[in-house]
Amino acid sequence: MKSNTKQFPKNKIAWLWENMEGKRALYFVGILGTVLYNILQLTIPYFSGKIVDLFLTGENAATNLQVHRDLLYRLLFAMVGFTFLRVIVVYGSCMIYETVSQSVLYRVRNYLYDKLQRQDMTFYSTYRTGDLMTRQTGDLDAVRHMVAWVVRMVVESFSLFAAAAVFFLYTNWKLALCVLVISPFVFWIIYLFRNRVAPMHAALREKLAQMNTCAQENISGNRVVKAFAREDYEIEKFDRANTDYAETNKATGMVWLKFFPIVESIANLMPVVLLAVGGVFMIRGQLTMGDYVAFSGLIWAIANPMRQMGNIMNEFQRFSAASKKVMELYYSEPKIRDEENAVSHPERFEGKIEFDNVSFQYEDGDLPVLHNISFTAHPNETVAIMGETGCGKTSLINLIPRFYEPTEGQIRIDGIPVEQLKLYDLRKQIGLATQDVLLYSDTIEGNIAYGDDSIKMNEVVKFARYSAAADFISKMPEGYDTLVGERGVGLSGGQKQRISLARALAIRPSVLILDDTTSAVDMETEKQIQQSLRELDFPCTKIVIAQRISTTKTADKIIVLQNGYIEEMGTHEELMEKKGYYYELVKLQTGVDEL
Ligand code: GTP
Ligand code: MG
Repeated sequence: MKSNTKQFPKNKIAWLWENMEGKRALYFVGILGTVLYNILQLTIPYFSGKIVDLFLTGENAATNLQVHRDLLYRLLFAMVGFTFLRVIVVYGSCMIYETVSQSVLYRVRNYLYDKLQRQDMTFYSTYRTGDLMTRQTGDLDAVRHMVAWVVRMVVESFSLFAAAAVFFLYTNWKLALCVLVISPFVFWIIYLFRNRVAPMHAALREKLAQMNTCAQENISGNRVVKAFAREDYEIEKFDRANTDYAETNKATGMVWLKFFPIVESIANLMPVVLLAVGGVFMIRGQLTMGDYVAFSGLIWAIANPMRQMGNIMNEFQRFSAASKKVMELYYSEPKIRDEENAVSHPERFEGKIEFDNVSFQYEDGDLPVLHNISFTAHPNETVAIMGETGCGKTSLINLIPRFYEPTEGQIRIDGIPVEQLKLYDLRKQIGLATQDVLLYSDTIEGNIAYGDDSIKMNEVVKFARYSAAADFISKMPEGYDTLVGERGVGLSGGQKQRISLARALAIRPSVLILDDTTSAVDMETEKQIQQSLRELDFPCTKIVIAQRISTTKTADKIIVLQNGYIEEMGTHEELMEKKGYYYELVKLQTGVDEL
């Protein structure tokens, strides 16, 4: 897979270069174009100087004007011609920069999205959504800006400066040195500026991510905000993040303002130096009027790149901070992925699931949450998992599709350790209805047949019937075509659970895992669902987390977890016999003192 083969390059520019694959030659043409049009800038002052010397101030100016009028026209025509050529070159190279930058953006964006899709659970619990979104938007834009603008400005500034310097030295090297002698000082100032501004851009980027996170959490959590009437609190919170970002932005801008007067003074000093020294040279007869005109017509080509340096450095630092974030994601590898010799298993599993002395601790957790879990679910059996909240039920079932890796022990499906199976083959065979139901902003049909065109409408209806959702769906104005909002807005908790169950069933899994999937539906509906699950038209091992005795009663095996240990295990009858935790639970739920 392409996402597993990339090496972290030494630097950001090398990384950009890598992502310009296929467009490198074009980009090079763009850069050559920039150099060319900056050299062409010299033509105007050059020809102006010639015209002044030959036709305005030179000794034979009047004669030349009469005798060599055709030369004057040719010079004027050349000026217009070169200007026209320059415009074409500028236009072409700008098009190239834009094309290449969009192509890099497209490529990196797709690649990042691909990366995001393949990350594991630990990744998603480590990164904030707002931060990930910032990487995909603002940070990527800074990368595009680097390709489209910063590089162009660097080439432009340097080629303009170099071309003008060469022209000056060629025309009158003494005067040229007098004008150029101050320029190294500017480079030193820019170096100082860079050291000051670099950490500010890193901070600025963090503040932007914080502000985005704040907005994103607020938008997705709008119901909680409303329920607690905490709008003002949220507005204040965002205002703080916004102020923080704005202040940091201002402070970053201010850094350049500290250096700007020095650079600007130097830039403005150049024409003065030219006037003074050039004047003396002319008086001494070491410089013609035409050369002076050419110098003064080009002095901006020395001064402007210096002025531009601050901007360029600023933008470069922005790119630097942003690309660091983008590259972090670009080269991140999920810890849970296919092993080198992973076993393909495209066919269905028989459905035997074995937990062999499994212990588990979250990477960021202090204590193990599961201890020495061993049990077997035979093909087509139903295993119910019970236990008080936080005892490790969800953590346990998350190990089956390898969302996390056990710290000890082994989980096997049909005798094959799950870590040896190809992730795709393993997960494709597992139907999972999670505890937090997540529906997409799509139609109900689209949610049930999630991402699988081969699931036909009649099957969607059948699975909706299995999960006791068909009735309420048919009562909706547009039935299966009803659009449900983001995260299933517009549906009740129990309705969402039933759609999520239908979605898990629709893939006809070999292993069905239900995490408290019927907790929000009424007893009668739940009974219907249990009945349907027993009568599925395909073989399927079921691992069901549930709190209600009515659900667990008919299971082939009931596992009672407590603090991550298996407290009790057996059938309903066996556990009733044992008179332990399960027995007490039954008493509590049925309201009977003695059974
Ligand atoms: P309910 O769903 O409330 O019935 O609980 P549960 O039995 O499903 O508990 P779960 O397996 O979700 O959690 C078991 C323990 O692991 C709890 O103490 C949690 O605090 C802890 N836990 C759950 N998820 C994470 C996680 O992503 N990171 C860390 N560090 N701990 C977690
Ligand atoms: Mg849970």
